[in-house]
Amino acid sequence: MHRNQNSDIMICLSGLVGFLLVLTTEARVGNSSELKFCSETEQCLLFDLICKTEEYEVRHYDSVKWVSTNETSFFMEFAAMKAFRRLYEYITGANDQGKKIEMTAPVLVKMPDKNFWQMGVYTMSFLLPAEYQINPPKPSDLQVYIHDTPDMKMFVRSYGGWMTSTSDKNEASSLSTALDIVDAKYKKGFHYAVGYNSPMTIFNRHNEVWFVAEDDPTCASSEELNFAPFA
Ligand SMILES: *[C@@H]1O[C@H](CO)[C@@H](O)[C@H](O)[C@H]1NC(C)=O
Ligand SMILES: *[C@@H]1O[C@H](CO)[C@@H](O)[C@H](O)[C@H]1NC(C)=O
Repeated sequence: MHRNQNSDIMICLSGLVGFLLVLTTEARVGNSSELKFCSETEQCLLFDLICKTEEYEVRHYDSVKWVSTNETSFFMEFAAMKAFRRLYEYITGANDQGKKIEMTAPVLVKMPDKNFWQMGVYTMSFLLPAEYQINPPKPSDLQVYIHDTPDMKMFVRSYGGWMTSTSDKNEASSLSTALDIVDAKYKKGFHYAVGYNSPMTIFNRHNEVWFVAEDDPTCASSEELNFAPFA
């Protein structure tokens, strides 16, 4: 009896493709050794780099789960202090399973676009580790909630030093200027302030500003557009 070799190969290939798909989706929250600037936690949020310019990177992020909390304030610094404490309680056991959950990176703060005399809603999020992405424990605190970010393309600008309202605002403004010059389409009204280090770390700190890309983002070359950033 002849076995059909081609169909064996097809089955084998589709099995392999399935296996690779599982691997890539699970790898989105993965080993921090894969990300040079993410060195303080075992697991980090991973991404695909689509392209980069002098001013920014375009990255693709898969949909992932976060534990989040909102805080209304005039200042990111005040909001962040209270929000951090609440999320820290969740990962140290304030959840329906009393689970201790390891810290991951980055920590996101969704920054409202506002004037300094206005209050704004700041949303801080901790990335859930891979083992809690499917079925995260329920937060005990009603102000803490589990939240998905969709599959997204992101415009990203990196900077060192400390993340403050001022440094974040300056970097966000540089990034939006660079994006506006090349007529890139991104969501208006907010951005993400993104931190990878604990406050105890003094050297080699890494922070980012993220704008959510709309349409199909590309890296328009600044030379092609005859743009001299410091002219
Ligand atoms: C992460 O990768 C490093 C180097 O490849 C390895 O030594 C370490 O055990 C890995 N950690 C986890 C949690 O898989
Ligand atoms: C948290 O704030 C965001 C705005 O950043 C808002 O869309 C969301 O509804 C708020 N969620 C809760 C649970 O308060």
